[in-house]
Amino acid sequence: MTWNSHVHPQRRQHKSQGPFSNPALVATYADDTPRKVPGLADLHRMAMLLLSERAQEAAHILVVGAGGGMELKAMAEAQRQWVFTGVDPSAAMLDLARRNIEPFNDRIMLIEGTVDAAQSGSFDGAACLLTLHFLDKSERLLTLKDIHRRLKPDARLVVAHHSVPSGGAERWLARSAAFADRTSVDWGKAMASAGMAGRLPLLSVAEEEALLCEAGFSDVELFYAAFSFRGWVATASSA
Ligand SMILES: C[S@@+](CC[C@H](N)C(=O)[O-])C[C@H]1O[C@@H](n2cnc3c(N)ncnc32)[C@H](O)[C@@H]1O
Repeated sequence: MTWNSHVHPQRRQHKSQGPFSNPALVATYADDTPRKVPGLADLHRMAMLLLSERAQEAAHILVVGAGGGMELKAMAEAQRQWVFTGVDPSAAMLDLARRNIEPFNDRIMLIEGTVDAAQSGSFDGAACLLTLHFLDKSERLLTLKDIHRRLKPDARLVVAHHSVPSGGAERWLARSAAFADRTSVDWGKAMASAGMAGRLPLLSVAEEEALLCEAGFSDVELFYAAFSFRGWVATASSA
């Protein structure tokens, strides 16, 4: 395999790239994201540890929505023998990733496209962080099934994104918005931001877990919960 960047002819149309073609958002992404997501560095470390329970030694890890490169960098630093394939439809976010992962270029291949651009059936683990909340339910299911198809039996998947208890979207998104605002405590502003974030196609916790099972995953376990963010680890069932 050549550890180069690829632009893949995208087989599936995706509507979700929207904000990630915005140069202003991409320019501030690396600074803004750790401010918005509680314990982001620890989330990366937890994802790496959960994957390492099944993917030991020289594993090949798939990262879906790899733009920015933050989780790739964290996992490549911690696991010196792992190699990675990262897919993302946003060229701008992949450029940012390329800058971030420079020291690990020889172990990371980036592909411009969605998960269907990655090779089938060969990965020892997969991560999809801060991405699935942009996809509507049917697109999410297709994405999760595509990830499942690319994992070896019993490999782990780690996901984390916005997901809220039924009926609690506005309250929890406002708490996350207040967390991200490091200059003041302004609940009016936080509620307004929550209104905007509320346009995301969020699923309830129960729907998230059901969707992972429908896509073929088992042993779905919550490992991370921080205001409106939640993360699960799941196992790719063989049947
Ligand atoms: C908030 S960023 C998260 C990036 C990175 N995973 C992180 O945690 O910093 C969401 C990323 O998902 C990508 N994305 C949007 N739709 C996607 C899809 N259908 N498949 C894969 N990635 C997608 C966007 O281009 C963007 O780079």
